[in-house]
Amino acid sequence: MDKIIIEGGRPLHGTIAVSGAKNAALPLIAATLLCPGEHILHNVPELRDIRTICTLLETLGASCSIPKPHTLIINSDNVNNYEASYELVKTMRASVLVLGPLLARLGRARVSLPGGCAIGARPINFHMTGLQKLGAVLELEGGYVDAFVKDRLTGAQLSFDIPSVTGTENMLMAACLAKGETIIRNCAKEPEIGNLIDMLIGMGAKISGRGTDTLVIQGVKDLHPAETTIISDRIETGTYIAAVGATGGELTLVDCNPNHLPAFLDKMRNVGISIEVKENSIIAARSGPLRSVDVKTNPYPGFATDLQAQIMALMAVSQGLSVIDETIFENRFMHVAELQRMGADIRVEGGRAIVAGKDRLTGAQVMATDLRASASLVIAGLAAEGETTISRVYHLDRGYENLDVKLRRVGASIRREPE
Ligand code: EPZ
Repeated sequence: MDKIIIEGGRPLHGTIAVSGAKNAALPLIAATLLCPGEHILHNVPELRDIRTICTLLETLGASCSIPKPHTLIINSDNVNNYEASYELVKTMRASVLVLGPLLARLGRARVSLPGGCAIGARPINFHMTGLQKLGAVLELEGGYVDAFVKDRLTGAQLSFDIPSVTGTENMLMAACLAKGETIIRNCAKEPEIGNLIDMLIGMGAKISGRGTDTLVIQGVKDLHPAETTIISDRIETGTYIAAVGATGGELTLVDCNPNHLPAFLDKMRNVGISIEVKENSIIAARSGPLRSVDVKTNPYPGFATDLQAQIMALMAVSQGLSVIDETIFENRFMHVAELQRMGADIRVEGGRAIVAGKDRLTGAQVMATDLRASASLVIAGLAAEGETTISRVYHLDRGYENLDVKLRRVGASIRREPE
């Protein structure tokens, strides 16, 4: 395991190229299970989670190759195993995304229940009830979901109690090959779902309602492989904007899509960070004082829960009081205790964190607990006085490609060492 060491207090200046979105690449890789042939994906980020899902697909019979950086070719001719083992699924809950495609392709799927993670219980009941509505018979035994359907899935009308991202993605993929029409209501509308819809339509699926909370899918008998480009990572983009907000300076983020984080950019402007938007780039700069703002996480296009930890680090060094309400996950404040070790003044009351900004934090030894918590500790370390050491950075490597390298290139004193 590695650790990251940061000498804080240095403003960031320069350009960072944003990588492809982890949370788009994962469902799009799962979608290659839907039909045989050679699928090509571009702008795939080089991340631990991508390697994990490729390993999972290979246990199912697919073969994955990377002919050049960020291009992934998946041949799914020989997908014949329908079991996703606990060993792999327990390391990445997004493995549940193979459930829908396997059921649609093979009529059978046996996927280990992902289990909880640091940020919450993260049940998959919406996935299961949705697939049952499409005619699948699901049984829970030995920690596995055992699903099968006689003949073929059948289109149905579904509605999510809350707009689940991977729930929407699983149902979308399953419905593409179902017999007849499926209508899914109260869908999630994250840009990553639009990326999946574009890929599925490229494969011959018939889907309408892209970008709305109601998707209508006319099932087809067969699909064919497609060539698709992964969208840029809006969470990575937001993370670097929060970083330059905390340190001061100016960053130009390229290969990003400003339209994918509207609520966050508005919030950053309110904080006092200047945001200049071009088609595929954002210039973020901060020289004056940081103003405290209130934040409430919401499904897209609201403020992303995946940027909550990062803005909390920023609010820890802003002027005033910030109230942060986390409405999506029940335990997504694991970063608070670590930020407090750096001197942050934060009080948690249920799903609410009250942050009293301070002039500065002090470097300390801290521990990463989950992907986005790790990012908030990096931001705090960059802004803090003195040295911060972050252990268990494998959490960071799940979702950020070369974060330390990218930050070093824009002036951060950050290095990685074996723990
Ligand atoms: C996706 O997780 C993302 N992961 C998460 O990003 C992100 O935080 C989350 O969406 C919310 O935006 C991927 O896309 C791979 P949900 P997902 O289903 O789909 C409850 C990161 O840091 N729920 O939208 O698992 C659930 O507990 C990760 O990159 C049920 O109750 O999230 C949560 O409270 C972390 N039953 C809410 O819905 C279900 O069957 C939203 O969860 C499914 C979800």
